Amino acid sequence: MTPKTTSLIELPTDLDCTQLPQHVAVIMDGNGRWAKQRGFPRMMGHKRGAQTLKDLLRCCKDWGISALTVYAFSTENWGRSMEEVDFLMTLFENLFQVELAEMVSEQVKLEVVGNLVNLTPSLYNAIDRAKNATQHNQGVRFTVAINYGGRQEIVRACQAIATQVQEGLIKASDIDENLLAQHLDTAALPDPDLLIRTSGEMRISNFLLWQLAYAEIYVTDTLWPDFDRRAFHHALLNYQQRHRRFGKA
Ligand code: IPE
Ligand code: IPE
Ligand code: MG
Repeated sequence: MTPKTTSLIELPTDLDCTQLPQHVAVIMDGNGRWAKQRGFPRMMGHKRGAQTLKDLLRCCKDWGISALTVYAFSTENWGRSMEEVDFLMTLFENLFQVELAEMVSEQVKLEVVGNLVNLTPSLYNAIDRAKNATQHNQGVRFTVAINYGGRQEIVRACQAIATQVQEGLIKASDIDENLLAQHLDTAALPDPDLLIRTSGEMRISNFLLWQLAYAEIYVTDTLWPDFDRRAFHHALLNYQQRHRRFGKA
């Protein structure tokens, strides 16, 4: 549901409120480089990045963007040092706990996608509590991808569908794009209209491989901790200049 129009007061006047992306996906990249530039440990970049995310979520509410999905930890990120992985997992757990009250009061509906079975029980429980506490909220649909990989997500969906075929519940010929999409972690969400990647890398790094089929892609050199309202405004202006053809002439 789109947040109340009264909250759109702050929308920059050069943005067309009828042409905003409904669903914005973000690859929040560049925390390590941000810290390195300042002579800080990488962890400082992650901490600042969390603040940036909080500001962006509020901005989505203010500007009437109904869904925000962010890449927080990929299945490949386990390959980082144990210190960094532990720091990130603890950071996520703290955020789900500390920010919960505000998410509830701001009507945020939280979802977490990815393979959650490998997470520590305490992080898993914090996610579960936050999801349950916000599930009836009607504001921004905020989805965080943790231990997420697009390929793995598609494999899990195929396994679930194959099991149904094996049990005789459906036929192989019943499998279509719709059915596969319904078995993805993002089943309840429309596909992203806009993908933003910070820090200049021109790749999608295993994020939402299925769902991004027709998303507009915006890459900025700005490092994630510096991605503020102004930078988001710029991304939206750029999006509004695109002509989305969906294969048509
Ligand atoms: C993104 O920033 C955050 C995560 C992947 C968790 P990085 O940590 O990848 O930062 P860079 O790319 O090394 O600068
Ligand atoms: C993508 O960033 C994952 C997240 C932002 C969570 P990475 O920093 O892991 O991506 P690569 O390694 O540069 O492709
Ligand atoms: Mg990176």
